[in-house]
Amino acid sequence: MPPTTRARTLRIQVRRHQRDAGRDAMSDKIYEVSRDWAERAYVDAAQYRAMYEASAADPEAFWAEHGKRIDWFTPYTKVKNTTFGPGDVSIKWFEDGTTNVAYNCVDRHLETRGDQVAIIWEGDDPSESKRITYRELHAHVSRWANVLRNRNVQKGDRVTIYLPMIPEAAYAMLACARLGAIHSIVFGGFSPDALAGRIEDCGSRFVITADEGLRGGRKVPLKANVDAALKRLAADAVDHVVVVERTGGKVEMDPGRDVYYHAAAEMVTDECPCEEMNAEDPLFILYTSGSTGKPKGVLHTTGGYLVYAAMTHQYVFDYKDGEVYWCTADVGWVTGHSYIVYGPLANGATTLMFEGVPTYPSISRFWDVVDKHDVNIFYTAPTAIRSLMGAGEEPVTKTSRKSLRLLGSVGEPINPEAWEWYHRVVGEGRCPIVDTWWQTETGGILITPLPGAIAQKPGSATLPFFGVKPEIVDAEGKVLEGACEGNLCIADSWPGQMRTVYGDHERFVQTYFSTYPGKYFTGDGCRRDADGYYWITGRVDDVINVSGHRMGTAEVESALVAHPKVSEAAVVGYPHDIKGQGIYAYVTLMSGIEPSDELRAELVKHVRQEIGPIATPDKIQFAPGLPKTRSGKIMRRILRKIAEDEFGALGDTSTLADPAVVDDLIEHRQNKR
Ligand code: PRX
Repeated sequence: MPPTTRARTLRIQVRRHQRDAGRDAMSDKIYEVSRDWAERAYVDAAQYRAMYEASAADPEAFWAEHGKRIDWFTPYTKVKNTTFGPGDVSIKWFEDGTTNVAYNCVDRHLETRGDQVAIIWEGDDPSESKRITYRELHAHVSRWANVLRNRNVQKGDRVTIYLPMIPEAAYAMLACARLGAIHSIVFGGFSPDALAGRIEDCGSRFVITADEGLRGGRKVPLKANVDAALKRLAADAVDHVVVVERTGGKVEMDPGRDVYYHAAAEMVTDECPCEEMNAEDPLFILYTSGSTGKPKGVLHTTGGYLVYAAMTHQYVFDYKDGEVYWCTADVGWVTGHSYIVYGPLANGATTLMFEGVPTYPSISRFWDVVDKHDVNIFYTAPTAIRSLMGAGEEPVTKTSRKSLRLLGSVGEPINPEAWEWYHRVVGEGRCPIVDTWWQTETGGILITPLPGAIAQKPGSATLPFFGVKPEIVDAEGKVLEGACEGNLCIADSWPGQMRTVYGDHERFVQTYFSTYPGKYFTGDGCRRDADGYYWITGRVDDVINVSGHRMGTAEVESALVAHPKVSEAAVVGYPHDIKGQGIYAYVTLMSGIEPSDELRAELVKHVRQEIGPIATPDKIQFAPGLPKTRSGKIMRRILRKIAEDEFGALGDTSTLADPAVVDDLIEHRQNKR
């Protein structure tokens, strides 16, 4: 076993699941499927069981049938060609079929629903909103594709998109898909450094951005960030920057490189053919944090991804024609890719895009938007629910919400208290909650209730979607049966799965398939109860989940040690009432540097500059030394305990090189109760 793998495995063995500490992690309550729901939904309990069994018994036949839900230019004859190793890992679905994602999300709807609204856009300012029909979407996407094509964007080229939540984000994604270019969206909250790293990693010569973003009434200097990012790269690294005018704010334009979209769009028509793409041609790269090193470029391809995103969107949200569906995520994350843009549009749905934040201009904003646009299906993250809970019921109950019929949750474990509040206050007890577990890597939802089929237990993602085979393994990789707790793996491939790490297939194999050879290892801990329900307990690797955003502790550590006054840093997560997990950093300073509150503030600012505001450390503890084994390995288990203020249960510290450092750490801990 290579050393990195061994280290990972050992770490996984010693890790206790973090989120259980101090939280109401389990609930015995069961919310049965109502008769109405069993009748109206695509599948009831018996149909779920039959379809699940069919999908598990004969994946080829199951997906041969369901692959037909999208339109193919050349139909596939091969369905599944996948191996998880040991040894080679190769994942191909529908490999001899050809299609185009933009064709499926736009063109094929023109005949039957050209005048139906495809995208409802709700601006940061409540007085701004737009409704874009499928016909208008077609014109926008085609025009965008022509603007890109005029700048020599070709099939296989990478295009970085750094945009706020405006319809142009969807147009740009679909324009790339139309041309066969691979988009890489970078969340607008990432810093110039983080953006530069992502542009460089995938060798993207094209960037799409806006003058400024607008969130909660505040401007985000997107174009200025792009300028700063490009200064960090070779002078000729990027050929073209296309700038959407969002606020009209003044920005610098490099005449040889930068162009405003509206000016470029005047030169082109709104007709552009769709490139014929193989099912396994890349669709997008999305960077995500892992336990080691820099973020990985997760690569998703065309056919299987779209089939899976569309099918899960239809069944999990029980989406029916004419309904208004709203996912509050940002397109900078995978949830935005699969469940704002690709899944809903492939299904001909009406999808709502929201530019703003839940608390602006008031704490009722989500529910005001629900009433304004008669939203039927609402999908958000537990962190939003928890923060709104803090303001009490009145900001919710003063709104109507009578259009709502289904609620969803994603991104992190939802604690039963937040689940119950969401159910009782927001959904007035009548809306089922789908707690959907999945990952950037999985492309779509893997474990979730289906609202007409599966009784819900608050805090449990319940049962697997069709074709998904979860396994819980112990530290040695032994598959556990029945009620048990361990690490969550998936035994076989599903069409939405990532295919590789862009440019580094070996890293893909190492990261996901070497800990438990022959299985996809999710990085999550999981419990299965006596009813076969899955309860995700949180990450078991060095990834923390802050407000539903994934953060590698290693990334925050390298940002900290890049500061000239820092000699060493170790970062861990700790339970946080609103964010799920907070970021706790232990910092050892260079000799001669004195700790101070000013320095603490300077370090926080520094991390925000290196990565972005989402990586802001909540707590920084200056430590004269870190607890290390005699071989020099930092004992994070101890650091986690101290951050959780649980230092009574530190366990065995006798293997430490210098056990005395622990006393100092305890004395100066930042989370004293
Ligand atoms: O730990 C799990 C948690 O979020 C991780 C994936 O993060 P990311 O790739 O950013 O994708 C987030 C949106 C799909 C998982 O490894 N997670 C996601 N959904 C849930 C969850 N944990 C518990 N319950 C969920 N419903």
